[in-house]
Amino acid sequence: MITIASLLIDWHRKYGRHDLPWQKNRDPYAIWVSEIMLQQTQVNTVIPYYHRFMQAFPTVASLADAPLEAVLALWSGLGYYSRARNLHASARIVASNYQCRFPVDRCSLEQLPGIGRSTAAAIAVFSFGQREAILDGNVKRVFARYFGIDGFPSESKVQKILWEKAEEALPHDYQNGQIEAYTQALMDLGATVCSRGAPTCEVCPLNRYCIAAIERRIDQLPTPKPRKSLPQKEVIFLFLLRDRKLFLQKRPTSGIWGGLWCLPEISAGVDVSAYCSDQWHIQVKTLHELPILNHQFTHFKLRIYPKLLTIRSEKMALSDDSIWIYPSEALERGIPTPVRKLLQRTFSSSNNLAIFI
Ligand code: ADE
Ligand code: SF4
Repeated sequence: MITIASLLIDWHRKYGRHDLPWQKNRDPYAIWVSEIMLQQTQVNTVIPYYHRFMQAFPTVASLADAPLEAVLALWSGLGYYSRARNLHASARIVASNYQCRFPVDRCSLEQLPGIGRSTAAAIAVFSFGQREAILDGNVKRVFARYFGIDGFPSESKVQKILWEKAEEALPHDYQNGQIEAYTQALMDLGATVCSRGAPTCEVCPLNRYCIAAIERRIDQLPTPKPRKSLPQKEVIFLFLLRDRKLFLQKRPTSGIWGGLWCLPEISAGVDVSAYCSDQWHIQVKTLHELPILNHQFTHFKLRIYPKLLTIRSEKMALSDDSIWIYPSEALERGIPTPVRKLLQRTFSSSNNLAIFI
C-alpha cells in the first residue's frame, strides 16, 4: 500500500543524505547535540560547529564538567545562546540524575531543559529507534500542505490536528531502520523540496497525493500567521490653495514624519472653516472633499480625509516652518509618502485643477 511513509522512505533511499556526521552512530549524546544545533540552524552551518563541539566535549560527562563559558565560546556564532545554556544544564542533569546514561523514552527526554516534544522524539528515533512523531517548523509546513490543513500551524487547535496527522503518518514496520529513514526523509523534504517560498513539487515524492499540490493551493498553505488588527487613526489633511500655490508645514523634528513637509493635519470631525478662522484668521471660499487615502504604518492605520480649500486672499502669517509652494515644486521637497500620493493624484496633468478654483 502506498502511504506517505512508504513514499518518503523510498525517496530517502535514493535522494536522502546518509553521510551527516551525526548519522554515523546511535550515541544519544551525539544525536542530542546535533538536534539542538539543528533546531534553528541549517545543516551546512551546523556541521563545522558540531565537529568542534564534539572534539571538545566528546561525552556527556565532559560537557557536564565543563564551565559554561567554554560551552558558550564553542557556540559563538551559532546564535540562540539559550540553546547552549540549556544543553549544559541538561548535561549536568543527565550526569547527576541518570549516571550519564540518557533516558530512552521520549517523555523523560522532554523533561530536560531545551528539549521540546519534537526534539525529544527526534532523539528517541535516531538513538533508540523508537516509534515517535516529530513536528518542527518544516514538518508542520509539509503536513499542512500534504493533508490540506488550514489555519496557522502554531495555533494550538491547528497544532493538535497536525500532531494527530504526524502520529497517523508514522510507518508501522519500524524494525529495520524504517522509522529513522522516515523521520530523516521528512526533515530533509521540509528543508529542501517543500521549502516555504518555492517548493519544487515536480520532484516531490508526495506530489500525486498532496492536497496543496492537487488543489493548487501551495501559496495558501500553510496559512500565514494572522495579522493583529491595527488601531486606526483618522485625520483631515488640508489642501489650502491660493494663487495656485499650496500651503505646507514642516513637521517638528521629533515624531512621525519629523522634518518633512506636510499638508496641515487636523483631527477628523473638526470643523474646517472654524479651524482655519481660529488658526490662521482666514476665510474659506470653497471646500471640496477629495477621495479618502488609507495609509498603513507598522503599528497603526491612518485614514486620511483630504479636503481642498480655496480661501479669500487675505495675508496669512508665515512662520519659518511653513511655505506657499507650487504643487510641482512640493514634489521635489522631502514629503511623506501619503502626501506625495495625494499631490500626485490631485495635481496630475489629467486632473483639471480649474474645477476647484
Ligand atoms: N533538522 C533537525 N534535525 C535534523 C536532522 N537530524 N537532519 C537534518 N535536519 C534536521
Ligand atoms: Fe510540498 Fe509540493 Fe511535495 Fe506537496 S507536492 S509536499 S507542496 S513539495
